[in-house]
Amino acid sequence: MVNVAILGYGTVGSGVFKILKDNNSHISRRAGEEVRVKYVLDLRDFPGDPVEEVLVHDVNVIMEDEEVDLVVEVMGGIEPAYTFVKRALDTGKSACTSNKELVAKHGAELLEIAAANNVNFFFEASVGGGIPIIRPLTECLTVDHIEEIQGIMNGTTNYILTKMEDEGADFDTVLKDAQDKGYAERNPEADVEGYDACRKIAILTSLAYEKQVDFEDIYTEGITRITTVDFDYMKKIGASIKLLGIARKAVGITYSMVAPFVIYPDNPLYSVKDVFNAILVKGDMLGDVMFYGKGAGSLPTASAVVSDVVDAVKRKGETAKILWSSEKRLIGSADAFTTPYFVRVKGTGLEDKVREKFGKVQFIEGDSSLNETAFITEVLSGSEYNEAAEGFDVVSRIRVSK
Ligand code: HSE
Repeated sequence: MVNVAILGYGTVGSGVFKILKDNNSHISRRAGEEVRVKYVLDLRDFPGDPVEEVLVHDVNVIMEDEEVDLVVEVMGGIEPAYTFVKRALDTGKSACTSNKELVAKHGAELLEIAAANNVNFFFEASVGGGIPIIRPLTECLTVDHIEEIQGIMNGTTNYILTKMEDEGADFDTVLKDAQDKGYAERNPEADVEGYDACRKIAILTSLAYEKQVDFEDIYTEGITRITTVDFDYMKKIGASIKLLGIARKAVGITYSMVAPFVIYPDNPLYSVKDVFNAILVKGDMLGDVMFYGKGAGSLPTASAVVSDVVDAVKRKGETAKILWSSEKRLIGSADAFTTPYFVRVKGTGLEDKVREKFGKVQFIEGDSSLNETAFITEVLSGSEYNEAAEGFDVVSRIRVSK
């Protein structure tokens, strides 16, 4: 018998409790022994909810109980999650979490603490919700050098961009609709400014390249400046715009970035719509492989958390080898990142000047009432773009996925 304690009875915690109850015999068979929820920790009471039987308000009850083999941390945020997970690992309990802030900031350190105590720290649900991506990266794609990861890792922004594209509605209108439907928070900053995707790509970049990538070092641009006019141009060239997290290995340097990108239909991420997430991994031997599914929500996210529980039970007495050292990996700047750009500048009759400054470009004809010139450049570094753009009144510029 394995005793589990769930820290937090919110959206994900209640999903974990339900899955461990509803699918218990299936999960126990897969794990190799019976898995039981002994405690759920929350400050609140839940009158009439079956959780009442196992609800506790004091974390010490869990930490001091030697029968608890494993904690599931689904509280979110850095504190007290960090203190609780560290204490659990230090007292010989494995920990599984969906908490991307915690993993991005302390993942390497918590893996080291887990190894020192011969237990496991797992975090499948921290990136892509229910989509398996952490275990595929650490257990399956072990042969290839990862050349690049491109991910749509935020459902809220993908929903907003999809609606802007399909319905021609502007950002503010779609954001309000997303808030009304519960797809966007009342304070949407973490999603629309790209901070949520930034934590997730920090985790994937650290795992792909085996050293700590600090999310503070990652160039992050959100979707608030994307307009319906940008999508009108995309319709003319048969492309879309998606918020991507990118990890890329170039000669002697690693890049990690979050920004909106123009995407063409030959990229499998092109058709990822609404709240869905997808992560495209490019290996040097395997080529492209894509992971697609629900990146948020109670049961999808909890399903990934419980898959970690099963893995931890199967590995009792050993620590899984996850290569993520706390040594810091320096990230190349956005000025050095190379990509084509979609650019809109104010004014017409500028073709010669545009060619002179940007080199070879593909012009896109726009609505003449806009009084602007739009084009797509060849591959430029960020600093080459900045230099070329000097002297133009830039309305919009969006990187283009290669
Ligand atoms: N706000 C996040 C999203 C939730 O929209 O994808 C999952 O991290």
